[in-house]
Amino acid sequence: MRLVIHPNYEKASRWAAGYIAEKINADKGTKPFILGLPTGSSPLLLYGEFIKMYKEGKLSFKNVRTFNMDEYIGLNADHPQSYHYFMMNALFNHVDIDRGSIHILDGMAQDLQKECSQYEEAIAAEGGIDLFLGGMGSDGHIAFNEPGSSLVSRTRVKTLTMETKAANARFFDGDITKVPGTALTVGVGTVMDAREVLIIVNGRSKARALRAVIEEGINHMWTLSCLQMHPKAIIVCDEDATEELKAGTVRYFKDIERENIKI
Ligand code: GLP
Repeated sequence: MRLVIHPNYEKASRWAAGYIAEKINADKGTKPFILGLPTGSSPLLLYGEFIKMYKEGKLSFKNVRTFNMDEYIGLNADHPQSYHYFMMNALFNHVDIDRGSIHILDGMAQDLQKECSQYEEAIAAEGGIDLFLGGMGSDGHIAFNEPGSSLVSRTRVKTLTMETKAANARFFDGDITKVPGTALTVGVGTVMDAREVLIIVNGRSKARALRAVIEEGINHMWTLSCLQMHPKAIIVCDEDATEELKAGTVRYFKDIERENIKI
């Protein structure tokens, strides 16, 4: 696993956006680029960079098909806190992606199990995900794979922990009771099947989890630690997120990535 440390969140986001844009551009004209996407605050600047690159004519999403990681159960696409709504505002409304190329789990589906299995089938029908972009919860979760999730899990219904609901209450007028208690999420196994995974992590609130994911063993209590078994995974972070890592760990990754972090 690579750990790419940047001095701040802006630089980390710009680097990650540039990295992904290069992959998308490299695939142009051959086959669609299948991109997994997250919500949350972590990817916001990165999405801003995508939009900037699109406006400058440096990046097109015409050849990109997307699969989002997760969605709350019980919120419709027009609900301002739904991940459908988030994605349209944060990215899709501002770039040239075809609406038919966007896939987001439907948290209002009558048959949630069927929705999940069809999502897995749709990913498989596209030949799998080329690159899964993600964030990380403060408890080390990926998508909504809360602590204790099976590390071979597939898309399914999950119950959200208090820690996740408390962290996300800021989007629901600070009222934890308004945060849905369940969500649909791709599984750890779904993410692990992607040919490449890139996770963006910023801020001190993620430092404890980053330490567990980087310095401790693979553990279902920190589901992002699954990346230790992925053949091509990168965590891109800012300095603040490295607060709990050993000085030697930070020095090591900075040293081996020295040539790669130029932007
Ligand atoms: C939620 C999302 C995750 C996201 C996490 C962190 O749990 N399901 O995909 O990574 O929040 O969110 P933030 O980036 O806002 O810290």
